Amino acid sequence: MKKIISVVGARPNFMKVAPIHKAFQRYSTKIRHLICHTGQHYDKKMSKVFFEDLEMPHPDFYLGVGSGSHAEQTANVMVEFEKVLIAEKPDLIIVVGDVNSTVACSLVAAKLNIKVAHVEAGLRSFDRTMPEEINRLLTDAISDYLFVSEKSGLTNLKNEGIFQNKVFFVGNVMIDSLIHYLPKADKSSALQNYSLTPSDYILVTLHRPSNVDSNDFLKDLMRLFENLAAKKKIIFPVHPRTKKNLEEAGYGNDLNKNIILTDPIGYIDFLALTKNAGLIITDSGGIQEESTYLGVQCITVRNNTERPITVEVGTNQLIGTDLNSVEKCALDILSGDIKYGKIPELWDGKTAERITEFLV
Ligand code: UD1
Repeated sequence: MKKIISVVGARPNFMKVAPIHKAFQRYSTKIRHLICHTGQHYDKKMSKVFFEDLEMPHPDFYLGVGSGSHAEQTANVMVEFEKVLIAEKPDLIIVVGDVNSTVACSLVAAKLNIKVAHVEAGLRSFDRTMPEEINRLLTDAISDYLFVSEKSGLTNLKNEGIFQNKVFFVGNVMIDSLIHYLPKADKSSALQNYSLTPSDYILVTLHRPSNVDSNDFLKDLMRLFENLAAKKKIIFPVHPRTKKNLEEAGYGNDLNKNIILTDPIGYIDFLALTKNAGLIITDSGGIQEESTYLGVQCITVRNNTERPITVEVGTNQLIGTDLNSVEKCALDILSGDIKYGKIPELWDGKTAERITEFLV
């Protein structure tokens, strides 16, 4: 019996490990699959609710690392995860995505000569000011199996000199979760709860430090939303980092009544809000992909994306951080000038099956 430990740390990890865990259940005589939660995200609404929505078991290990500077958080995950690996001696660990827990755990495993599989390998924004880009580069450099979600990943890894026999184009595991839970999302009461009409509201999410850590830019963003709220309702589930900065910038109850600020929303309800939005304005990586799969209009408020397929074939538009351009694009979309898209190759709900079949 082989032992595999998958790592989750932050919100975007949960929907990637859930389908992998389910797929491993088919091989329960051959593989013992365990889950380690580093505790990078710890609020109920950033973590526990996702375990419930995604029907994941309680993690087998909880490291309780919490927040801190990049060095503190990464180092604390390393110290705690090393204890788990020394005690458990797994044959392989699986890390997903690009968060601090991803790089921390891969580094610990590589030093202990434990094989590392990276799911969502090869994505590159080519912007090294993003902490995630550093995490991606380092994780890919030391992984033994690199599972790629879109073709740009194959090119990037080749250009970085990664041995091609370690690289596998398997598709997008997060889309497995989306496809699986769409019927449940269709029964969600999220739209009624916020008095929203399908296709008649804008969904906003923003949490990148580059967008929300500057008081001035955050104020400009809120002015943009005030302008758009004159035309459409806006629902904006607020990430803890953004919440803190909005509070510091003095935002409270005095916003336009068409702007609904909420706490972070669970997986199923958020999927319902994504599917039915007329427009999404975001700086998230995952939401660029989910909107592309669902054919929902998406404006990304960033200057680059590590997920270029969503722009090349999907409904995503990478508009940058000039907010006049964002406003113009949003108004064009709201008046019917939309971008048609297709679903990228192998985003078919079977990625976790491909990964587990290969690993078994
Ligand atoms: C992390 C990931 C980012 C991902 C995002 C999704 C890194 C470098 N970044 O960013 O790629 O898109 O998660 O949310 O790993 N906080 C809470 N409660 C929580 C978690 C965080 O209040 O449960 C607050 C803390 O004040 C913390 C801040 O949010 O300092 C930032 O959390 P952190 O995990 O460092 O990074 P994120 O911005 O969430």
